[in-house]
Amino acid sequence: MEVIIKKYEHLEQYNQLMELIKSEGEEWEAYLKPKYKTALQNSITYVAYIGNKLCGYSRSVNDNDLYIWIVDLLVDKNHRGNAIGEKLMQCLVKDFPAQDILVMSDVDEYYTKLGYDKEGSIFLVK
Ligand SMILES: CC(C)(COP(=O)(O)OP(=O)(O)OC[C@H]1O[C@@H](n2cnc3c(N)ncnc32)[C@H](O)[C@@H]1OP(=O)(O)O)[C@@H](O)C(=O)NCCC(=O)NCCS
Repeated sequence: MEVIIKKYEHLEQYNQLMELIKSEGEEWEAYLKPKYKTALQNSITYVAYIGNKLCGYSRSVNDNDLYIWIVDLLVDKNHRGNAIGEKLMQCLVKDFPAQDILVMSDVDEYYTKLGYDKEGSIFLVK
């Protein structure tokens, strides 16, 4: 099972990516809105393929070459545990070797498992 990571091609891959997001249920449904379409296009977005099946993606934003923030990472439920998430992360490291890369984590155990160091935490500002 070969996993290929590609740069996101907006018109070709948007519908497939939305199918992946729909399959996650209500937790991800805010991303079905049109403004997320724009966000995908304006971000550093990678998609993971097995054959013709889009089975994962990452979306990151470049903060003026100071940092790259990984804001979304998702792997299809049926394809988890095959290092697709890890490959999506490594792709950024390879393409942006001179940048500090940070991830907005919802799953600290996962990133710890990948060997990353924890730096701070996130608060919702009111
Ligand atoms: C988190 C996620 C992206 C991991 O993708 P994945 O491709 O299955 O992960 P990998 O195959 O690269 O996993 C590597 C290792 O981390 C472990 N791991 C995966 N998810 C984990 C989790 N949530 N907590 C702890 N460990 C986890 C795997 O078991 C694997 O360990 P192993 O090598 O001993 O088998 C995927 O589970 C997912 O999409 N979850 C829902 C969305 C989400 O939580 N995204 C992150 C938001 S910040």
